Amino acid sequence: MKHVIFSLVIVCLLALAVPGATWAQGETPTLRSLAERRKFAVGTAISSWTLKSTPDLRAIITAHFNQITPENDAKMCFVQPQENQFDFRGLDAVVSLAESARMKIHGHTLLWHQCFPDWLNGRELSRDAAIQILRDHIKTVVGRYRGRFALWDVVNEAVESDGSLRQTPWLKWIGADYIELAFRFAHEADPDALLFYNDYGVEAINAKSDGVYKLLSDFVKRGVPLHGFGMQMHIRMNDVGPGRAIEPAKLAENMERFGKLGLQVQITEMDVLHAGEYDEAIARQVAGTYYQTLQTCLKVAACTGLTVWGVHDAMSWLRMPQYSNNPKAAPLLFDDKLKPKLAYTALMDVLARALGDKPILTDDAAKELVEPQATVKKAALPDPKKSNVAQLAPDSVNGLAYYAAFPVKISVDGDASDWANIPRDTLKTIIKRPDGDSTALTFAAAADDKNFYFLGEAQDSKVVSGLHPIDSQWYEEDSVEFYINGTGDRKLAAYKPGIAQLAIPAANIGRSGAPLIAGYNSKDVTLQAVVKKTDKGYLVEASVPLKTNVWSIEPKQGLEIGFQVHLNGSSDKQRDTKLIWSLADTQDQSYRDPSLFGVLIFWDVNQK
Ligand code: XIL
Repeated sequence: MKHVIFSLVIVCLLALAVPGATWAQGETPTLRSLAERRKFAVGTAISSWTLKSTPDLRAIITAHFNQITPENDAKMCFVQPQENQFDFRGLDAVVSLAESARMKIHGHTLLWHQCFPDWLNGRELSRDAAIQILRDHIKTVVGRYRGRFALWDVVNEAVESDGSLRQTPWLKWIGADYIELAFRFAHEADPDALLFYNDYGVEAINAKSDGVYKLLSDFVKRGVPLHGFGMQMHIRMNDVGPGRAIEPAKLAENMERFGKLGLQVQITEMDVLHAGEYDEAIARQVAGTYYQTLQTCLKVAACTGLTVWGVHDAMSWLRMPQYSNNPKAAPLLFDDKLKPKLAYTALMDVLARALGDKPILTDDAAKELVEPQATVKKAALPDPKKSNVAQLAPDSVNGLAYYAAFPVKISVDGDASDWANIPRDTLKTIIKRPDGDSTALTFAAAADDKNFYFLGEAQDSKVVSGLHPIDSQWYEEDSVEFYINGTGDRKLAAYKPGIAQLAIPAANIGRSGAPLIAGYNSKDVTLQAVVKKTDKGYLVEASVPLKTNVWSIEPKQGLEIGFQVHLNGSSDKQRDTKLIWSLADTQDQSYRDPSLFGVLIFWDVNQK
């Protein structure tokens, strides 16, 4: 009883701390109470060691969630650390917390290519020997908790981004049927548990989710015991929304197609990553991303749960350098001090509205979450002016607009003298740069009737180049990127042909012939570039045609195109500097969201 009263006090205190919400005494809803009335699972993930180090989490977990996923303890490297030696201490600790609070348990995960135990790594096994190990593992782990786990992620992340099967040791030893064997063994060990296939990057309709759909439809057709599909939902701020990478309507359509197979769908590992410090504006956008995700899920009958990948920000896996590059990431529902965040209130509001309860947020506050762009007012540009009469185009408006003089005569030769009187601008947004480092970039742009020209002058005391593969990790070292949206629609929030990120690495220094280039859609256009070492750092001079298969840009006075410039800097083996021109891109997201570009306005040098 004492314990119950204590928990109630905690719940009430927490409720008072929920941002933007007040309730009369005695009717304090929580995320858990709302979810239970809706017969919906709201889950969180926790490792036994986090429970141990932060005992205060227990009350939070049991008050606010009705389902729990062991974040790590059921993975093979922890639960069977030696061949045939099982260690259930960690998993038992998470299970006992869940059972003490009548929470559902979501087992995670029986087979995964990561957390692969050392004793199994690198072995040469026959199909039969591997099946034996697979069967023993699954039967022992699932069997121990028979009747107690609501669901199990039987197989995790077995599909590649192109929809094919991931090359894992199990695939190599057993063949493609290792997946269905795993489901069959799990079903034999616990016929009541719902068996899920779980993966990331499958929220939108794409090659990967199509691959999973094919795999799972085949299982359903052939009667393989399978009951659900878990969409991990490790995403970035603003990934979910109209015109975004994950369109709510497409997410719903995707969930529905799995629903039509007779499967449940759950969002199993949600967190929302952002760059930089967490502030009010980011809080709103993170909350908005959660809001639209849950809103979509509740509209789909098959979507039966949403689990967040951790309880409070301080314990998120995204704080670890191997999983994200933001040590200040605040991707969860509770902050470092265990206080509920706006994202928590947002999820409650979605549930309250779905239940027909009094909303938790005002309609205006809810609208702001769904339309985060509306809160960022586009600043009007001042009248163009030249601070020096000799300039060929007006001063740029830093971070918003650049006036590109045309027609001018430029040759791409690494000599910047033909750029005299063409205005320069600098990159002011510093996403990161080591203390005391003076890396900087000044740029200019111009055109003639055939080409668009770009000049970047980087100040960099140590030019790092040639350490990383140019087709994948070019951004880890010194490079200058300019971006063009030549589609005529500057509001587009996702890449399509006609939008290109043109990255020119310092690895081009001293190179002749075709330059090394990288970036999204950069192969769509023929870029010419010369990169030269200078006293202060390096210089990039480049051109791209105005008429290509993907865009046709005809400079005329006042014509606007989307434009952006970035600098990547490395002082060692990985990128430690990121500078950005367009002020709208506060999160280093231009490589995926062209609506964050600034504007380039063509300026006719011959006008009267
Ligand atoms: C992560 C955990 O959160 C970390 O603590 C651990 O170090 C690595 O694994 N997809 C999954 C999860 O299915 O199991 C992963 O969890 C995150 C990505």
